[in-house]
Amino acid sequence: MCVHGAQPSVLKQDNVREICRADRPNRSSPGSSDNSCVRPAERPLTSVVLSCSRLGTKHRLSAAMSEKTPVGAGKSCLVGKKEDLIKAKRTSVSIADRFVFVIYHQGVFYAMDEHCYHAGGSLLDGDIEEIDKKLCIVCPKHKYKISLADGEGLYNTTNPKDKSQPPCWRSKGIKQRVHKVTEVDGDIHVTLSEAPAWIDSDYYQSEQGRMDLKLAKELELAKSKSS
Ligand code: FES
Repeated sequence: MCVHGAQPSVLKQDNVREICRADRPNRSSPGSSDNSCVRPAERPLTSVVLSCSRLGTKHRLSAAMSEKTPVGAGKSCLVGKKEDLIKAKRTSVSIADRFVFVIYHQGVFYAMDEHCYHAGGSLLDGDIEEIDKKLCIVCPKHKYKISLADGEGLYNTTNPKDKSQPPCWRSKGIKQRVHKVTEVDGDIHVTLSEAPAWIDSDYYQSEQGRMDLKLAKELELAKSKSS
């Protein structure tokens, strides 16, 4: 059952334990009848070719950025039973019309925007790697690295072909919006981030970004039919 609009205080009871991003763990899927906001795991996730959707669309980006409040800011949703989400490890959910995925890794739950800030690829099936002592999800589309804890984008400044040099990682800053995960009596809730500043992954939650995702999906379908 979604609890859109519930006040954060609802989640701050004595028996509520915040699952901090700083000390978390792998993926999940729904099992409870309460988790109506959870998208079925088998539902295909939009795969996006970003280059076709973003190039030459400066005006669209600026229109999206003018939507000042992040989609669903502060809204909470019951995602499912903890044990079900642990079994599933990764779960895709829609909370207040925002696409989010919840991942359980090494004992910790994380939640972040599902579509990669770079070109809208789905992060749901991304590998997890420890990079520069940070657990990162690697976008399947173009291999961008994103910290699970805070959505920081990381990049390697050394030439990956030069094996004599160790990688030197640098930060791009916060690129992917992350959300708060809480546990209440064995139920897992996600509360959407209220951070007001624009974060690049917000684009794919905007009307413009969704149009791009839809277009990319249609192009991919057309391409697969013609091949
Ligand atoms: S879509 Fe390009 S790295 Fe994610």
